[in-house]
Amino acid sequence: MGFTSNQFIYCIVVIILGLWVSQTVSLTLHDDASMLEKHEQWMALHGRVYKGVGEKERRFRIFKENVKFIHSRNSVRNRSYKLSVNKFADQTNKEFKAARNGYKGRFPLLGKSSRRFMYENVTDVPSSMDWRKEGAVTPVKDQGQCGCCWAFSAVAAVEGLTKLKTGSLISLSEQELVDCDDAGNDQGCDGGLMDDAFVYIKINKGIATNVTYPYEGVDNTCNRKKAASHAAKIKDYEDVPVNDEEALLKAVANQPISVAIDANGSDFQFYSRGVFSGECGTDLDHGVTAVGYGTDEDGTKYWLVKNSWGTGWGEQGYIRLQRDVDALEGLCGIAMDSSYPTA
Ligand SMILES: *[C@@H]1O[C@H](CO)[C@@H](O)[C@H](O)[C@H]1NC(C)=O
Ligand SMILES: *[C@@H]1O[C@H](CO)[C@@H](O)[C@H](O)[C@H]1NC(C)=O
Ligand SMILES: *[C@@H]1O[C@H](CO)[C@@H](O)[C@H](O)[C@H]1NC(C)=O
Ligand SMILES: *[C@@H]1O[C@H](CO)[C@@H](O)[C@H](O)[C@H]1NC(C)=O
Repeated sequence: MGFTSNQFIYCIVVIILGLWVSQTVSLTLHDDASMLEKHEQWMALHGRVYKGVGEKERRFRIFKENVKFIHSRNSVRNRSYKLSVNKFADQTNKEFKAARNGYKGRFPLLGKSSRRFMYENVTDVPSSMDWRKEGAVTPVKDQGQCGCCWAFSAVAAVEGLTKLKTGSLISLSEQELVDCDDAGNDQGCDGGLMDDAFVYIKINKGIATNVTYPYEGVDNTCNRKKAASHAAKIKDYEDVPVNDEEALLKAVANQPISVAIDANGSDFQFYSRGVFSGECGTDLDHGVTAVGYGTDEDGTKYWLVKNSWGTGWGEQGYIRLQRDVDALEGLCGIAMDSSYPTA
């Protein structure tokens, strides 16, 4: 039996194709194997345990997609910030947003600009500010799977004000706000608004420490006895004029300020370091606290923002957000809805 030349070519093609397919399959398998190993290591690092094989497979697929996304974003050399495979790497962006954000703004916001703004005539604004260095910021906290960012944002602003007023830095109770505050839009783990939290603290005539009324990260009934313990008080609150980064600068130069941002997006979920320059929109969904501002080595201006997702996210729990961008709302809408308690 001999080959015709056609059969011969066919045979060669089949062999080459075969080699190519097996190479590709083994590469993919190898890829998956190393990704599986990466996932196992990540699970061990974060103490993650899944219920059943199905759930593990589902989480692995999400993890793999996220790792690919993070690597592709990081491969753009000139991007001013980096992402990392952090503790949120097995969650889709949708799941992540549902469990972590929880800012419920009232719109439109523009009416706020007509109210009193105590820092309007401030002219002496230092070129940089970091309220941590002034001892006015408590360690980064973690809201867990409870959409009460608004409580953490308001509490951080009150902690800052209290330090400036009394000289002592006291960690205050987010859980009291989650359980007891039903002012305006406030609904515990289902979301709320910083301004309404200030209203609650004003009406309640104070707020407890986080030792008296510790964080649990779930909606409980209000413990009136604990809520009657007042470690800090505020007189009232004011809003920073809307869509005005200049006004926000005057305010942050004087005290830590509650701000709302659009934290929707995978870049935010996996932010690791550098000055964040997007992607984000202006659909405000997350309450955080501006605790300073500055300019990095490249001359990029930024806001220093304290988040409530633990120290494993971002720069030890903080994010630097680009400041003075070409939009009135500020990057991620940071200049749209900021406010602060008054003494
Ligand atoms: C990075 O470089 C690309 C291509 O030169 C440019 O379009 C983009 O604006 C740059 N991005 C930054 C953040 O500098
Ligand atoms: C700012 O200055 C103007 C003009 O002197 C004054 O009317 C206004 O009350 C000042 N605002 C505050 C908050 O002190
Ligand atoms: C109170 O908050 C601080 C961080 O400011 C934290 O270290 C501490 O564990 C918290 N205590 C309680 C009881 O929640
Ligand atoms: C969330 O952000 C992404 C871009 O990062 C955008 O495509 C999407 O429309 C945004 N979704 C909402 C609800 O704002």
